[in-house]
Amino acid sequence: MDELEQIKREIGLCSRCNLSRTRKFPVPGEGNPDAKVMLIGLGPGYQENQQGKPFVGPAGKFLNELLELAGLMREDVYITNVVKCYLPDNQPTPAQIDACSPYLDRQIEILKPETIIPLGNVATTYILRRFKIMPETIGRVHGKSIRHSNLQMQPEIIPMYHPASALYNPGMREILRADWENLKGIQSY
Ligand code: URA
Repeated sequence: MDELEQIKREIGLCSRCNLSRTRKFPVPGEGNPDAKVMLIGLGPGYQENQQGKPFVGPAGKFLNELLELAGLMREDVYITNVVKCYLPDNQPTPAQIDACSPYLDRQIEILKPETIIPLGNVATTYILRRFKIMPETIGRVHGKSIRHSNLQMQPEIIPMYHPASALYNPGMREILRADWENLKGIQSY
């Protein structure tokens, strides 16, 4: 079994935090194991919990549209979340993030993506901290390419607003569309 599969199996058996008690299916992530582009959301919502797959609800539908604007195929990238089990209120506690993030860290180490796209504030904060980059709010860094020259493994980090933020806000929709359109030409695998 390859290492990504091994992590999926461990997540399936995980009981490191209380979210394991209320999940239907864990959502470890999916995509091309050779992907150069990795997308990281917050955590599974209702639909994702029902299906065990990331971004299959309304936010996922919009994400598919955004990927298309960037010229990316969903099956060519790797999509996962900071937290792998259903988040009923979309607000993970620091303890839940601490318990779950070692899985994400291992996924990043295995995939060695050239580009990481954290979606929303929680994923952006986590990824910037992990790569020892000064914290920034998503409002300041969305759509920008961030690199840290001192790191051995140097993915380009391009934070984006979370696609769910646009579901009820047409203004956000246009900002997201413009940010993703700017990615056109990015190599996905
Ligand atoms: N929102 C997320 O952050 N992740 C998902 O997988 C779905 C919705």
